[in-house]
Amino acid sequence: MTRQITTRFSFASIECIAAPIDPRFRIAMEKDGDIDARESLLDRVFGPGRFQKTSEKLRVNQAPVSGLALVAKTSAGALIGTIRLWPIFAGQGRAALLLGPLAVCPNVKDSGVGRALMLQALARAKLQGHASVLLVGDAAYYNRFGFEQRFTDRLLLPGPVDPKRFLGRELIPGALSGAAGAVTPVRLERHQRLTAIAA
Ligand SMILES: CC(C)(COP(=O)(O)OP(=O)(O)OC[C@H]1O[C@@H](n2cnc3c(N)ncnc32)[C@H](O)[C@@H]1OP(=O)(O)O)[C@@H](O)C(=O)NCCC(=O)NCCS
Repeated sequence: MTRQITTRFSFASIECIAAPIDPRFRIAMEKDGDIDARESLLDRVFGPGRFQKTSEKLRVNQAPVSGLALVAKTSAGALIGTIRLWPIFAGQGRAALLLGPLAVCPNVKDSGVGRALMLQALARAKLQGHASVLLVGDAAYYNRFGFEQRFTDRLLLPGPVDPKRFLGRELIPGALSGAAGAVTPVRLERHQRLTAIAA
């Protein structure tokens, strides 16, 4: 049985607003042409304060890992969700990924879009050989995907964050065992090398 979801789209901003759409959606690689719609969605979901977040400090002037920036689209091609994974170190020399932002158009909230984006992103990250993923977000949502605070107890982000919202998940068992110290971005050139090795 399909659930009717309502949303509407402005072709200028491709922002989700309210009109009937096909509730089926697909997960695809993010493309250059998705950027405006993605920015519009993030503005709507997180507001202008999104650039002040501590995790943003790990993303500024960086690029998401190749193949790990995904979008959810309706069958009509409207962007209704986004997820990105970024290259970081979880303490000195321990390569990991930072997940975020994960955002879903409010009009299709609780319809499985966030879940589909998360499961695809984790599966692709694992296939690429990545060892672990960190994020800052609601534990009540992310626990169901295996993210736990215990993995980040001894890790430090480059700014203030509620420790209950700083979560980790191992893709390779033991990958975050003993993880401690500063979480830092991986310089782009090195990340490109790592991706090439993992591919
Ligand atoms: C959080 C978000 C990514 C979830 O995606 P989604 O497609 O709406 O949700 P899904 O279909 O994957 O999951 C729905 C389930 O998650 C629960 N859920 C959604 N947001 C939640 C939250 N912030 N905390 C706890 N549970 C949440 C729903 O109650 C529902 O539970 P059920 O399966 O028991 O019915 C999306 O709603 C979103 O972008 N929200 C705005 C940003 C935000 O609130 N982020 C909070 C996490 S940092």
